[in-house]
Amino acid sequence: MTAQEFLALRDFVYGRTGIFFNESKQYFLENRLQRRVGELGLRGYREYLDLLQGPKGRDELKQLFVEITTNETSFWRNPPQIEAFQKTVLPEAAQMARERGSSRLRLWSAACSSGEEPYTLAMICQETKDTVLRGLSVEILATDISEKVMDQARAGVYGSYTLRNLTPTQRGAHFIQAGPDAFEVKPELKRMVTIRPFNLVDWGGYRSLGFFDVIFCRNVLIYFDEAVKVKVLKGFHEQLHPRSHLLVGHSESIHSFNVGFELLHFSKAMGYRKRG
Ligand SMILES: C[S@@+](CC[C@H](N)C(=O)[O-])C[C@H]1O[C@@H](n2cnc3c(N)ncnc32)[C@H](O)[C@@H]1O
Repeated sequence: MTAQEFLALRDFVYGRTGIFFNESKQYFLENRLQRRVGELGLRGYREYLDLLQGPKGRDELKQLFVEITTNETSFWRNPPQIEAFQKTVLPEAAQMARERGSSRLRLWSAACSSGEEPYTLAMICQETKDTVLRGLSVEILATDISEKVMDQARAGVYGSYTLRNLTPTQRGAHFIQAGPDAFEVKPELKRMVTIRPFNLVDWGGYRSLGFFDVIFCRNVLIYFDEAVKVKVLKGFHEQLHPRSHLLVGHSESIHSFNVGFELLHFSKAMGYRKRG
């Protein structure tokens, strides 16, 4: 990959996904796209870019998203933050929903990868349906740009490695063993979760998703530059009910952007709340 090809591809990727590869990531991008260029029988990266920008570009774009995204995730990821959701955020969200006269709670896992995050939230909601959530129905929207991981999320079958943070009781309660190292989430969790594509740089699309009581957007903002982060946060802000929570990854402080959220300190975790 020449420096020129890298810059052209990097700008294309940035425009379509918000993911920004600086010069030190040339090798990474090359590594990810090499196989695809070979598979398509193309002569090089310039031809690949022409394909992406040509009439068949729409279909190839989906494949590009699969190739360039990093999808690492696991159940109960960052336990202190999940526990803050369980103990503080969810009860507050339930109370605020009741005060609004709503009988429905809507959670959004924005950048859900293969589903571990939304199903973790579903497990918690299932366990509290007759207590904290009594009288409320729950809808968890799970979105991503990689069709490959969303297919895995829809299947809902996982190996034990990604379940490593769960207790045996949690595994027993929410999964059906489907093979020697295959555990399928129970239908009641699947029913709570709706998986569909949503590109976080689809600025005009946020509104169509409706309003949310809690948004999880963890471990994706790190791939964006400041300009994109500010717009994504604005999108979340507009789709959150007043005083509702936004939970980002533990290394993803949004404090400096001052976009209408207040910082909250939980025990060993942080979160944000929409002001007002
Ligand atoms: C590292 S995973 C995080 C998964 C999960 N939120 C967690 O914290 O475990 C990042 C995900 O962000 C998705 N992603 C990257 N850019 C995106 C965009 N522009 N819109 C939506 N999802 C995106 C990737 O496909 C990937 O699945």
